[in-house]
Amino acid sequence: MSSYHSTLLACAFLATTTLLPAQEEAGNPLDRYIVGVKRDVSKENPRLQWFNDARFGMFIHWGPYSLAAGEWNGKKNYGEWLQVEAKIPNAEYEKLSAAFNPVKFDAKAWARMAKDAGMRYLVFTTKHHDGFCMFDSKYTDYTITKFTPYKKDLTKALAEACQEEGIQFCTYYSTADWHHPEAPAEYMQRGFHGAPNPNADVKKYVKYMHDQVEELVTNYGRIGILWFDGGGAFRTGPKKLNNEERSEVLDAENLVKKIHARQPWCLINNRLGAGADYGTPEQKIPPNGFGPGISWESCMTMNRHWGYNKADKNWKSADTLIRNLVECASKGGNYLLNVGPTGEGEFPPESIQRLADIGKWMRVNSEAIYGTTASPLAFVPEWGRLTQKGSTLYMFVFKSPKDGKILLPLNNKLKSARVLGQDDVKVSGESSDAGITVALKDIKIDPAATVIALELDGKSVVK
Ligand code: GLC
Repeated sequence: MSSYHSTLLACAFLATTTLLPAQEEAGNPLDRYIVGVKRDVSKENPRLQWFNDARFGMFIHWGPYSLAAGEWNGKKNYGEWLQVEAKIPNAEYEKLSAAFNPVKFDAKAWARMAKDAGMRYLVFTTKHHDGFCMFDSKYTDYTITKFTPYKKDLTKALAEACQEEGIQFCTYYSTADWHHPEAPAEYMQRGFHGAPNPNADVKKYVKYMHDQVEELVTNYGRIGILWFDGGGAFRTGPKKLNNEERSEVLDAENLVKKIHARQPWCLINNRLGAGADYGTPEQKIPPNGFGPGISWESCMTMNRHWGYNKADKNWKSADTLIRNLVECASKGGNYLLNVGPTGEGEFPPESIQRLADIGKWMRVNSEAIYGTTASPLAFVPEWGRLTQKGSTLYMFVFKSPKDGKILLPLNNKLKSARVLGQDDVKVSGESSDAGITVALKDIKIDPAATVIALELDGKSVVK
């Protein structure tokens, strides 16, 4: 049986299992980020396998706003929300779009940088809230191919480069749209539209959206995720819709069906209001994950902006970014790390440096990230974090305790231990009634995290 058919079968199976709405599980302050995700209590969603194994992806926010580099009329704190925040009418914003000519864009270099950093998927803004299409579309002229001197379909170039590098290519698509003439301002956050049309017909806009999403899942090869955004930006306009009303207006169930008719494996995040495979905490890592059966991905920026802002120098260190990745993995989630390229089509040097540093760490330690599941412990240890895979337990040591000893309250016997990247170091570990004690003597602690792999006598059993 082909994997295509087994995926289809698996999806059919999923549809018949008992699903509980995630929001029924109380107690996690970030639960709003998993609204709509179904907790599958009987079986993991097979479509999610690659995603849960990947753990690390690249987000790219890129569009005409990148050309402004965060600056408009002397103010320097803008990003991809430039059009709304500076209240720019379409006629003026279109000048920016028409000047978008990223001659330095090199799809292969971008895909390679993602791969070298250890990222396994890439989510690209094919259309952000400004409505500008970074892909070729027959349903509008407001595209990279028809509205700019650049003319080439850079989404296609990026999709192909990712596919060549073995990275899952994924498309971000905004449901909110400040530019399309049929997108009513009353649905948009802050009631904004760049050229409000009192006769706008939301049904026509929704048809446009469905048609474009069909283009994305038809013309760009395999799509790993349809990453919808603007759930809030669409819902919280003067019209004030609740989640169900938004799904209805967007005809979300049918949109998901259309996507799966073309690409049954394609994941849908939870910002459309239907068919959600996983949750999307933003700029935050949930303190304890969301428990079994809920997949999630924290998307975060490297500085403070998603879209390129040249004045923003609030860069997180590479060590912080690595620890964020570890933090997500240790809680059973993914880390989607953003890059905001310049209007000319280059990654900022600070991002390039950080990606390279992360890659260096990943080349030594990635086995403790890929294909792992959350820490078996119910508490977050002071010395660092844990992940596991089969009978291997990975310790990410952030700082060594004073006596250099770490006690893991496990019932298992320790068979062997090794420090990743430090083959010459012998780690001593001892099993006792209290658990397994690992001695860190002679181990060099990496400022990001040093990883110790413990081979246990079976899957970890916590005391
Ligand atoms: C926020 C921003 C939006 C960005 C998204 C990424 O919702 O408003 O512009 O694309 O985060 O998750």
